Amino acid sequence: MSVGKDKCVLAYSGGLDTSVAIKWIQENHDMDVIALAIDVGQERQDLEFVRQKALTIGAVESIVKDVREEYVEEYLSRALQANALYENKYPLLSAMSRPIIVKHLVEEAHRHDARYIGHGCTGKGNDQVRFEVGISALDPDLGIIAPVREWDLRTREEEMDWAAERGIPVPTTKKSPYSIDDNLWGRAIECGALEDPWVEPPADIYTLTADSRGNTCDEPEYAEISFKKGIPVALNGELMSFHEIINAMNELAGRHGFGRIDMIENRLIGVKSREVYEVPGALTLITAHKALEDLCLEREVLHYKLGVEQKWAELVYNGMWFSPLKEALDGFIETTQQLVTGDVRLRFYKGSCVTVGRRSPYSLYDYDLATYDASDSFDHAAAKGFIDLHGLPVKVWARQRRKMGKEGEV
Ligand code: ARG
Repeated sequence: MSVGKDKCVLAYSGGLDTSVAIKWIQENHDMDVIALAIDVGQERQDLEFVRQKALTIGAVESIVKDVREEYVEEYLSRALQANALYENKYPLLSAMSRPIIVKHLVEEAHRHDARYIGHGCTGKGNDQVRFEVGISALDPDLGIIAPVREWDLRTREEEMDWAAERGIPVPTTKKSPYSIDDNLWGRAIECGALEDPWVEPPADIYTLTADSRGNTCDEPEYAEISFKKGIPVALNGELMSFHEIINAMNELAGRHGFGRIDMIENRLIGVKSREVYEVPGALTLITAHKALEDLCLEREVLHYKLGVEQKWAELVYNGMWFSPLKEALDGFIETTQQLVTGDVRLRFYKGSCVTVGRRSPYSLYDYDLATYDASDSFDHAAAKGFIDLHGLPVKVWARQRRKMGKEGEV
């Protein structure tokens, strides 16, 4: 390590952009670069190879951290308890992984006395916001370097030439037209043919889910997921960690072709984009968790929580994981989960996952109140007085309207 030089911890993936970024930071900012690759469960890459590659390019140090357990326990558990779906559809897989990456970048910056953090995001996406707002929340004094946003390498060819001139390994196979981000919570696919919102996603973009028109099983399959305080703890009666259950559900739901989302979404920076997601495990678990909440949460809590969930998802999407409002909403959500314990039975068949049963020791479903048989204990007579008072404001309004001569008009 060179004496007196500033240091930059770079979020490193092993791909072309962040490989070029190592050299670019050295040349343009005259800093030592420490590469940090984070394992959040992306499709198996050889992370030792990635680590070595950064050193070959010139990083003074290269670190790989497997944070999968922490990701599940501290991050995905909250997403599940929040039933987090941005714009009621997207389970936030990329948005969820950025805060934990940020946390480790900042930790490594402190450990190495580095004053800068670098990331390889472009100037057009959400991720730059998530990185930079996250970093400033954890240490507002750290400087940020965003080479891909700063450099003037306009095309991939220019970038490859720049890399080749400096001995940086460049990909030899033709680059896939898609941009893919993945981790334990699913896979996001964009670009290429998908940029035309009218074009049906090509079959070859999918790796986690089978095509339900073709190669899925002809028999339905059932799974029983048990929850304790809003977190999955067993599958088909067998105790398993949340992490194992995510993997098992990715496999099972994926095999039945459940968990594909094709959507137009609103990015924070103001652009609409077309994204395809494969989220078999995440969607299955959110479906099951909601089904159990339907049984266990008191009506007002359930209804209020729907609004909180939407706000939570929007905050996380917008890079506000480390923010006072997001933390306050976590507090609310945690309180609601104390009695979300019980089992949910799901049926998978040809691209669908439906809830077919739910039970809980804390169930608020009261058979005697709900039934229309002889054991009915609901006080039918009380309904009359209730309706009179509940409808009173409308009645008063209707009378007033009649006085004004506007009966029946809207
Ligand atoms: N649109 C999603 C988000 O902002 C996913 C972005 C991930 N990137 C990708 N290459 N598909 O969270």
